[in-house]
Amino acid sequence: MTISLMPLPYAQDALEPHISSKTLEIHHGAHHKTYVDKLNAAIEGTDNADKSVEEIAKLASGPLFNNAAQTWNHGFYWHSLNPAKTAPSAALLAAIEADFGSLDALLEALSNEAVNHFASGWAWLVVDGGKLKVISTHDAGTPITTDVNPLITIDVWEHAYYIDQMNKRPVYVKTVLENLINWDFASENFERGTAWTYPA
Ligand code: FE2
Repeated sequence: MTISLMPLPYAQDALEPHISSKTLEIHHGAHHKTYVDKLNAAIEGTDNADKSVEEIAKLASGPLFNNAAQTWNHGFYWHSLNPAKTAPSAALLAAIEADFGSLDALLEALSNEAVNHFASGWAWLVVDGGKLKVISTHDAGTPITTDVNPLITIDVWEHAYYIDQMNKRPVYVKTVLENLINWDFASENFERGTAWTYPA
């Protein structure tokens, strides 16, 4: 069994003008693909060959962990974006208002986490022990190695925004939060209550 490069859930140019077709071509077709290719090369002929991306990320360390976690994180990130305007479900909105006060307050917390995370990593909205929290993970760090349920993520590696916004991470984060967050995906993850699984 090989791990697949999950196709983008929309056309490569679907996120323009916020994220360019060129960025998605490189980010999905080169960065994500390289993590998948290296993961497949590392597991071929080993005890891990028939394991899922999630199983490998949970048991591995070093380069094997990095490639499994980055494969999963990117699949989750593609779904976290959506060109259509979406809104949190009633149940998710109620939880947001209970735990953050308002949707605007949550967006501000996500923005601060994404903008201020030092160097490469990921900003996440997660459910941790029944409460919504904003966290970040560093480099290939992923919440699926813990008990939290991730709802949405923003990739803050420079490769996510350098072609479009050069070094201006705050502009990229603002663009994503104002135009691209897939609240349908967040709501599905919230209501299912268990972590999303990378497609086999
Ligand atoms: Fe990335």
